[in-house]
Amino acid sequence: MSDSPPKVLIVGAGLAGLFLAILFERANIPYQIFERAITMKPLGSVMCLNANILPVFEQLGLLDELMAISLPSRSNELFDGDMRAIADVRMKDLKKLVGYDFLVFARPDLYDLLLSRIPKEKLFLGKKLLSLQQNELGVMIRLADNSSFHGDILVGADGSYSGVRQSLYKELQKKGMLPTSDGKQLSVNFSTIVGTTNSLGEDFHPHMKESTTHHSAMIGKGSPYTWSTFTVPGNRICWCVNMQLDAKASEDESFRNSEWTSDTNETMLNEIRAFKTPYGDLGKLISATDEDRISRVYLEDKMFETWHHNRTVLIGDAAHKMLPSAGQGAVNAMQDAVVLANCLYDLKAVTSEAIAAAFQDFKDQRYSHVLTQYEASKHYAKILYGQTLWERIVRHAVFNYLPEFTKTMHLSKEMSYRPQATFIPRVPNHGTSEVLPQKPSWRYTELQKQGAAAV
Ligand SMILES: Cc1cc2nc3c(=O)[nH]c(=O)nc-3n(C[C@H](O)[C@H](O)[C@H](O)COP(=O)(O)OP(=O)(O)OC[C@H]3O[C@@H](n4cnc5c(N)ncnc54)[C@H](O)[C@@H]3O)c2cc1C
Ligand SMILES: *[C@@H]1O[C@H](CO)[C@@H](O)[C@H](O)[C@H]1NC(C)=O
Ligand SMILES: *[C@@H]1O[C@H](CO)[C@@H](O)[C@H](O)[C@H]1NC(C)=O
Ligand SMILES: *[C@@H]1O[C@H](CO)[C@@H](O)[C@H](O)[C@H]1NC(C)=O
Ligand SMILES: *[C@@H]1O[C@H](CO)[C@@H](O)[C@H](O)[C@H]1NC(C)=O
Repeated sequence: MSDSPPKVLIVGAGLAGLFLAILFERANIPYQIFERAITMKPLGSVMCLNANILPVFEQLGLLDELMAISLPSRSNELFDGDMRAIADVRMKDLKKLVGYDFLVFARPDLYDLLLSRIPKEKLFLGKKLLSLQQNELGVMIRLADNSSFHGDILVGADGSYSGVRQSLYKELQKKGMLPTSDGKQLSVNFSTIVGTTNSLGEDFHPHMKESTTHHSAMIGKGSPYTWSTFTVPGNRICWCVNMQLDAKASEDESFRNSEWTSDTNETMLNEIRAFKTPYGDLGKLISATDEDRISRVYLEDKMFETWHHNRTVLIGDAAHKMLPSAGQGAVNAMQDAVVLANCLYDLKAVTSEAIAAAFQDFKDQRYSHVLTQYEASKHYAKILYGQTLWERIVRHAVFNYLPEFTKTMHLSKEMSYRPQATFIPRVPNHGTSEVLPQKPSWRYTELQKQGAAAV
C-alpha cells in the first residue's frame, strides 16, 4: 500500500482469522493474530469448499495444494437406518457449470495448509482475549496472561462465543445502542459428534480406491439421529453423527452450558457404535479414530445485526453462526475475510471515521449474501437432519421429485456469488454459468494505471 496502512489486531486463529492473515500478507497490511488455544487443535471433522470461495484459493496460489488434500464430490447417497437406499443424488456437470468441483477434505489438513503460509512471529498462541478498549487514537486488547496489545483496528474472528463480540456488545449496551435481538442467546438445535479415522489401508473397502469422495448419509427412523461418512485422501474416513435436540432441550440453558463429562460422552459413544454404515458398524470407525480427533459440538444458529462499532469489526461465526448443513459456515467466514481485506486495502486514512466507513462498506457488501446462506442452512438442516414427520415428507419430495434442471438452476444461482481479492490479479470464470460483478479497488486500479504509464 502506498499510504501508511493500519495496524490490525486479529483475535482468533480459526478459518476466518487465518484466511484474513494470508490476505493481509498479500495486501501488505501489518497484523498480529492472537489465539487462545495453546496448540492448534482443529475439530476432526469433514469439510467441503466450493466455487463460492475456491477462486480466491486459486488467486492466492493455494488451489493445487488444497486439491492434493481433497477429493471431489459428485454424489450423495441416502440410506435409512438399516442401510436401505432412499436416494442417490448425482451432480456430474458441476465443474463444467461453475468451474470447480465441491472439494471434500479433513479440516485439520486445511489448517496445516493455511498455517504454512503465516510467519510464525505474527501468530501468538495461548492468548485469550478478556476485554477491549477503543477511542479516537486506537484500540487496545487485554489478554488473560495480563499482556496487552495496541493497534488501529481490531478484528474479532473468534467464533460463535466471541469474546470480542461480548466485550463490544457490553460497550454498546451501556450506550443504549445494542439492538434487542443482539442481546439474545444463540439457539442450539443440534448436537454433533465428529471424527476422522487414521489410515484404514487401501484394501479396507473398494471405496478407498475411488477418485471421488464417497458420501453416505444415514437417517435413523424413530430416533433423533442422522449420521454420515465421507472418504478423504490417505485411506481415511470422516464420520459424524447429528442429533436433533427437542425444543425443550434446546431452550434449556443448563443443558447447553454443561460440560460433557467423560461419562456422558462414553455413554453417547456406546449408543452410536451400533449404527450401520457402508463399512459395517460405526464402532469400527470409532475404534480406528484417535481420541483427540473425536469432538462433540453443539450446532448453534444466529445472525447478529451489529457487525462493527468504531475500530472493531466481527467476521465469520462471531457475526453469523450457521448450521453446517449447507456447508457454508467456513465459506462465508472466508468470504468475510476477502471482502474485509478489500475494504481495508482501500482505506483512505487511519482515522476512526475512515475505519468506520470501511467497516460499513464491508457490511453493505456482505450482509444480504450472508442472510441468504443463513436462511438456506436452516432450510437444509431440516431436510437433512430433521426428524419430525413434516421434515421427513419434505426430504422425500426434495430427493425424489425435484427435477434435475431445477437443481442445476438453483446451484448456478447459489454459486454466482464468488467475491475475489480486488488487490491482486483476478482469475477468470472457468465455468459456463454467470458470476456476479464486484466492486473494484480504487487503489489497485490507480496503481495499475501508474504502472501502465511508467511502461
Ligand atoms: C461439524 C461441523 C462441520 C462443518 N462443516 C463445514 C463445511 O463442510 N463447510 C463449511 O463451509 N463450513 C462448515 N462448518 C462451519 C465452519 O466450521 C465454521 O463456520 C468456521 O469454522 C467458522 O470459522 P471462524 O474462524 O469464524 O470460527 P472458529 O473456527 O470457531 O475459530 C475461532 C477461533 O477463535 C479462538 N477463540 C475463541 N475465543 C477466543 C478468545 N477469547 N481469545 C482468543 N481466541 C479465541 C478459538 O479457539 C478458535 O480457534 C462446520 C462446522 C461444524 C461444527
Ligand atoms: C470512536 O470512539 C471515540 C471515543 O468514544 C470517539 O471520539 C470517536 O468519534 C468514535 N468514532 C466513530 C467513527 O464512531
Ligand atoms: C495478572 O495481574 C493480576 C493483578 O495485577 C494478578 O493478581 C494476577 O496473578 C496476574 N495474572 C497472571 C496470569 O500473571
Ligand atoms: C431451533 O429451535 C428453535 C426454538 O426451539 C426453533 O424456533 C427453530 O425453528 C429451530 N430451528 C431449526 C433449524 O430447527
Ligand atoms: C469426553 O469428555 C472428556 C472430558 O470432559 C473430554 O476431554 C473429551 O474431549 C470428550 N470426548 C468426546 C468424544 O466428546
